[in-house]
Amino acid sequence: MDLESLLKQQEFGLGELVFLLKTKNEGRTELFEQSQKVKNETVGNKVYFRGLVEFSNVCSKDCLYCGIRKSNSNVVRYNASDEEILESCRFAWENRYGSVVLQSGELSSPAFIKRVDNLLKEIKKLSDDELGITLSCGEQSKETYLKWRESGAHRYLLRIESSNRDLYYKIHPKNVTHSFEKRLVALQLLKETGYQVGTGVMVGLPFQTYEDLANDLLFFKELDIDMCGMGPYIEHEDTPLYQFKDKLMSKQERFDLTLNMIAVLRLLMPDINIASATALQAIDPAGREKALAIGTNVIMPNLTPCVYRKEYQLYEGKPCLDEDAELCRNCLEARIDLVGNEIGYGEWGDSKHYLNRTKKA
Ligand code: 5AD
Ligand code: FES
Repeated sequence: MDLESLLKQQEFGLGELVFLLKTKNEGRTELFEQSQKVKNETVGNKVYFRGLVEFSNVCSKDCLYCGIRKSNSNVVRYNASDEEILESCRFAWENRYGSVVLQSGELSSPAFIKRVDNLLKEIKKLSDDELGITLSCGEQSKETYLKWRESGAHRYLLRIESSNRDLYYKIHPKNVTHSFEKRLVALQLLKETGYQVGTGVMVGLPFQTYEDLANDLLFFKELDIDMCGMGPYIEHEDTPLYQFKDKLMSKQERFDLTLNMIAVLRLLMPDINIASATALQAIDPAGREKALAIGTNVIMPNLTPCVYRKEYQLYEGKPCLDEDAELCRNCLEARIDLVGNEIGYGEWGDSKHYLNRTKKA
């Protein structure tokens, strides 16, 4: 395959995507030059902040890779108070972060649904309607998605984790609570209820092939997503998937492959928002900025109250466990500047893809 002509294409077949994902050395440099160019020409060099508030680690599910899975009894469960959550959101607003992300373990009790609903209204109130709000609270019913949408959430993150059904069931228990079909339905519901929809996968999972990853990219295109977050899979000792740790690529290889995924996705879907996942930073301290340089345009600085951070360890080596929000901000600013990107303070930085697709409709 001729890399130079391939890099000019906008549509790619499975074989072509696999070829691009496998590029190394000079080929990889060319891929990155092109993805950076496409990024700058399409979404520009601005990076948008979404202050991340991991407000509870209580989870009803048992994903085989996740450190806060229900069956992990080594985790101290917490629920941040409404005051603490709103305090973090206030920090975001006062520091002109355009948006916040509320993330938690997956629950669907009426009390949880009501609580999130109330938080949405309070966040809008405290910020004069200015803060954009993204939710990342798992699979919910259409009514719940609608209710939250009406109360002020306008983006939703729900990773498919893997678009290969067989692989999905290797990393999740095979039962109705972890149904692949339900996850697909939930993504569809999010589109129907008017959210900007974000999904993504983990890269470097045990049993995952290059074809799987190429198919993940085609899945994103087919679903016509607005946003994407992809990070390297990082094994967690207290999870069942840890038993396959000797089957994994090295962490560096998982990191490198994640960057290739990001670059190729930028070519395939030029106008979407792509986030620099925190897991990149768990492998390389400058990981998120390296991703910015080749294709991402969103960063989620951690605003979770420090007392809870060590209990929200989805994977090992999660960074910024002690840094308070102020420190995180200063350190990020400097590093973003280093890769020639500018921070879109006070802007929502909505997905251009969403604006384009809803304009057409
Ligand atoms: N390694 C990397 N990412 C993980 N996530 C959960 N557990 C891990 C892990 N061990 C990711 C999932 C989830 C997101 C919130 O965190 O993709 O969707
Ligand atoms: Fe909580 Fe997967 S373990 S949603």
